[in-house]
Amino acid sequence: MQLSKPHGGTLINRVLQDSERQAAIERAKELRRVDVDDVAASDIELIATGVVSPLTGFMNKEDYESVLKRMRLADGVVWSIPLTLPVSTEEAEAISEGDELALYASGELRAVMTVSEKYSYDKKYEAEMVYGTTEEAHPGVARVYRQGDVYLAGDIWMVNAPSQAFPEHYYTPAETREKFAELGWKTVVGFQTRNPIHRAHEYIQKCALEIVDGLFVHPLVGETKSDDIPADIRMKSYTVLLDKYYPHDRTLLGVFPAAMRYAGPREAIFHAMCRKNYGCTHFIVGRDHAGVGSYYGTYDAQKIFEQFDAQELGITTLNFEHAFYCTRTQGMATAKTSPGSPEERIFLSGTRVREMLTQGEVPPVEFTRPEVAEVLMEGYRRKQQEVEAEAV
Ligand code: ADX
Repeated sequence: MQLSKPHGGTLINRVLQDSERQAAIERAKELRRVDVDDVAASDIELIATGVVSPLTGFMNKEDYESVLKRMRLADGVVWSIPLTLPVSTEEAEAISEGDELALYASGELRAVMTVSEKYSYDKKYEAEMVYGTTEEAHPGVARVYRQGDVYLAGDIWMVNAPSQAFPEHYYTPAETREKFAELGWKTVVGFQTRNPIHRAHEYIQKCALEIVDGLFVHPLVGETKSDDIPADIRMKSYTVLLDKYYPHDRTLLGVFPAAMRYAGPREAIFHAMCRKNYGCTHFIVGRDHAGVGSYYGTYDAQKIFEQFDAQELGITTLNFEHAFYCTRTQGMATAKTSPGSPEERIFLSGTRVREMLTQGEVPPVEFTRPEVAEVLMEGYRRKQQEVEAEAV
């Protein structure tokens, strides 16, 4: 066994260096400036560093339509989520195909892009195909509805990498591949999360680790919805947890700089392809992966992979049922492994945990490790103080 090959065959690197970078910075002074939102800014970083190989830029219409209709790029490579650059109609009118643009994010030059195409698109259709709903209450759909009406396509080159909030945990796919090799891991399971790691997450990670060499804990730190727990608090909770409860020589914590789309099943495929690019051979898909509200069935994100053959996916998914603490067996389990009755299963929803934290209640030890609970409670106290200070 060896680490997964990059998706599509080649690990993309579109980060400009040295004289080419200097030349782009000079050119950019004369180029039309386009300010991109946080999601597009994170997409630029993903494209440039090869996280979304084989993509080299924002999608053209042919790829975009093919992704929506059949979850493949026009050339047939599996791809489930459109990576597109939306601009307003007025902005698009001033731009022609063939133009080179300077893409700015948070007021800073981030990349240059040569426009290969500009095209209009049907927002409702995109919502239905990618998110499975046209309801604006869905955070991913709401974002599509809010954004500009025209997409610009074209290859990008990153000029300035964004500043990293967690530099000690930042690895590009090229770097994780090196790191895994250094650690002697031939099989690595990737774990996506946008939440603190509770006992259920820990259980499925460790079940997976029993059958592979290494565990890549890879929390998403790009844009999430406002009621998700902020990345800085989560990172602190992961550090205390891994420190005490995980085998240090078999666990690597890295940050995943993508934005959350909440596209459930389609996002599960996207998450898996990205982790394949980081070198992972396996990827965990549990209950309602990347879901929000009740838009997706509990195991839809596992079933969607059945539409593709193992060869073209190039990464093995490890599916887990809903995990809980079982009071009869006194351990973590799923319905597959526990003979307990429903009353013997301790489940807590994310919403319930947030409620408890807001009220200053410690989540039970069957649900969360005390060290993690402490970090989360401290985070909530801080948040409340900030809210109160703002109100004064
Ligand atoms: S996600 O949006 O990043 O998928 P979350 O951080 O809640 O959300 O989940 C991370 C991973 O753990 C996903 O694969 C999810 O399916 C899985 N998961 C979360 N909670 C459970 C649970 N209680 N039992 C089994 N799998 C779970």
